[in-house]
Amino acid sequence: MATTPGPDGSPETSYDPMRQFAELAGDVRDPYPMFAGIRADTPVLQVNYGPESGLGSRLDPKTPRVTSLFTVTSHELAEQVLTDNVRFSSAGYARTIGQVMGRTILQMDATEHLRHRALVARAFRPRILDRWSDTIIGATITELIDAFADDGHADLIPQLTFPFPVRVVARILGLPETDWPRFLRLSTQLIAVMRNWDGALAASRELRDYFGDIIAERRRNTRDDLVSQLIEAEVDGRRLSDDEIYPFLLLLLPAGAETTYRSSSNLLFGLLSQPDQLDAVRADRGLVPQAIEEALRWETPLLTVARIATQDVELGGVSIPAGGFVAVSLGAANRDPGRYPDPDAFDIFRKDKQHLSFGDGAHKCLGMHLARLETRILLNAVFDRLPGLRLDPAAEDPHIHGLLFRSPPNLPVRFDPA
Ligand code: HEM
Repeated sequence: MATTPGPDGSPETSYDPMRQFAELAGDVRDPYPMFAGIRADTPVLQVNYGPESGLGSRLDPKTPRVTSLFTVTSHELAEQVLTDNVRFSSAGYARTIGQVMGRTILQMDATEHLRHRALVARAFRPRILDRWSDTIIGATITELIDAFADDGHADLIPQLTFPFPVRVVARILGLPETDWPRFLRLSTQLIAVMRNWDGALAASRELRDYFGDIIAERRRNTRDDLVSQLIEAEVDGRRLSDDEIYPFLLLLLPAGAETTYRSSSNLLFGLLSQPDQLDAVRADRGLVPQAIEEALRWETPLLTVARIATQDVELGGVSIPAGGFVAVSLGAANRDPGRYPDPDAFDIFRKDKQHLSFGDGAHKCLGMHLARLETRILLNAVFDRLPGLRLDPAAEDPHIHGLLFRSPPNLPVRFDPA
């Protein structure tokens, strides 16, 4: 997928979402030795920034600079921060991602968070999701694999894992198929907020206009889709306004599409690099869920989540002042040797596969059941439809990279044609 064709000769014709994503990931191959070094030194690293080079300067230029950052690297303390939303608030997202998305549940605390989360949580329960598994998720995978199953080779990132979750989100929202290229372009631009602030703001405005039309249409004709559910949902006996619905719709793109594309790519990379484990899962599909969990632990797609201390806190022997910015390193916590023996090994048979890749506590990922369902359907379809799947021996330097987000830029494979 070099470029995405626009239905009307629009910018879609010259837009390359894969390049945007590769650039966003950055080319850090292996941050784990660095995390291990920090963790061995201190479980909470304090870094001070000068007022001019303050953290956040790449984000909204109008917000105050963060001058001190506390990075949590141990599993125990990471869990402690994530499950304590009294001393550690999520309000800091208002300064970053909230600037392009509006007020989402990600940045809400306490009662406001509980009330808004409850509204949308129903749609993401496993039982409710089951009805999407064939109609939406299975159908999307079949379409994507049909396009290359006869070729005997493919690059699984642009041809499968990348377009898959964006299309699932588009279908869950009930967006017309002719709009998908535009939706993909805008989603990618929105997600690239850390690289291109102005581009993300422009995409956010365009997506609001686009969703505005969709919401108006659904208010006239309710359907069986998520937009209709949000229109009918009530907080304190009051229905949500369009301004309350937009941010949630915008959040689904980075939260639901980017993370799942990266995590399923990491899973395929892990299995293809360890042919014994690949063969084991292919032969016994009962191992699929544990392979998914181990891949999430081993290479979390999202490396860090953010909190702000609401009061002076002592954490791991380090004093964090009220207002201090706390970065919880999910990547470091997932490879803490105090919790996981041989933490750098990808081993689907390890005993403890619990991980922090979906976060923990009140904000624990709302979409984790959907992410697991999508990945399970994807992996089973890959095994069913691409016999003899293996890394392409001619593949140049297959690797995972990234410091904010991690996944392989390409995954060239060979298989026996259908
Ligand atoms: C493997 C895929 C995924 C990963 C690794 C992931 C990871 C995360 C993490 C770490 C958080 C917590 C953020 C924090 O505490 O600051 C989160 C929250 C969230 N995720 Fe996911 N996510 C994934 C898939 C999805 C999907 C498929 C959806 C929905 C379509 C989704 C929707 C959300 C939402 C709405 C929140 C905010 C929850 C809240 O603030 O209460 N995620 N996710």
